[in-house]
Amino acid sequence: MSAKIIDGNAIASQIRQNVKQRVEKRLADGMRAPGLAVILVGQDPASALYVNSKRRDCAEVGFTSKSHDLPADTTEQALLTLIEQLNDDSTIDGILVQLPLPPQIDPKTVIETIHPDKDVDGFHPYNIGRLTQRTPLLRPCTPLGIMTLLEHTGEKIQGMEAVVVGASNIVGRPMGLELLLAGCTVTTCHRFTQNTHEHVSRADIVVVAVGKPGIVKGEWIKPGAMVIDVGINRDANGKLIGDVDFDAAAKRAGWITPVPGGVGPMTRATLLQNTLYAAESLHLDN
Ligand code: GUN
Repeated sequence: MSAKIIDGNAIASQIRQNVKQRVEKRLADGMRAPGLAVILVGQDPASALYVNSKRRDCAEVGFTSKSHDLPADTTEQALLTLIEQLNDDSTIDGILVQLPLPPQIDPKTVIETIHPDKDVDGFHPYNIGRLTQRTPLLRPCTPLGIMTLLEHTGEKIQGMEAVVVGASNIVGRPMGLELLLAGCTVTTCHRFTQNTHEHVSRADIVVVAVGKPGIVKGEWIKPGAMVIDVGINRDANGKLIGDVDFDAAAKRAGWITPVPGGVGPMTRATLLQNTLYAAESLHLDN
């Protein structure tokens, strides 16, 4: 292996320490702790795991976290009413509704009901628009966490050729916007792209967020490239693996994120940063 590992666990841990210190400073100055409301609808086991980790993270850094576990048959109107109450609650800086939602609830309506100043996921069209127009406020956690990982390599990414594989609203699309903002030349590959291999093979930065193991082959990687793997999949033995063929890619890449311990912990740490940012910069009157 020649690639250097980008250690998401270590960088996320530094971020949590930093957030914790800033919360302590707020409390010492007589201000309230930042508050995050985490809403889970139904009992999808993976979602429940993610939500519990987010709640643990809040406790670790001294945030107030309010848990709302709603039954799978919750109506859309009941969820919207809860979100409106949280929009009006001055102790709450961030509202996170874990996705996916059950079929009777339209995620678009839910996202658009969260006040943009409390949209710590950065999914509201207002926040995506701000990012598009180079005036970002709250930014989607996974792409922003990946920008932090790239920064930690110390490489200057401005002017680099970046290829994002996957075009989801949560990762691929905002990832392209972040890389563009950082001065990269960006290509997004998606299910209709004919020659993903060709695009990937000229990329200095490759971000893969598809959810299919082995979708990017190690031989595609340009020697020295930075490879960011967002995939979280289980192999036949139940082991966590990414979307990139790690062992082969690591022979060619300059930098690579492992799965687990790469992007995952950064998404969670960035959620804490976003919530603190909302408390410090967007909710100044309480
Ligand atoms: N489901 C998968 N990723 C995410 C995320 O970043 N935020 C929310 N709210 N739900 C998700």
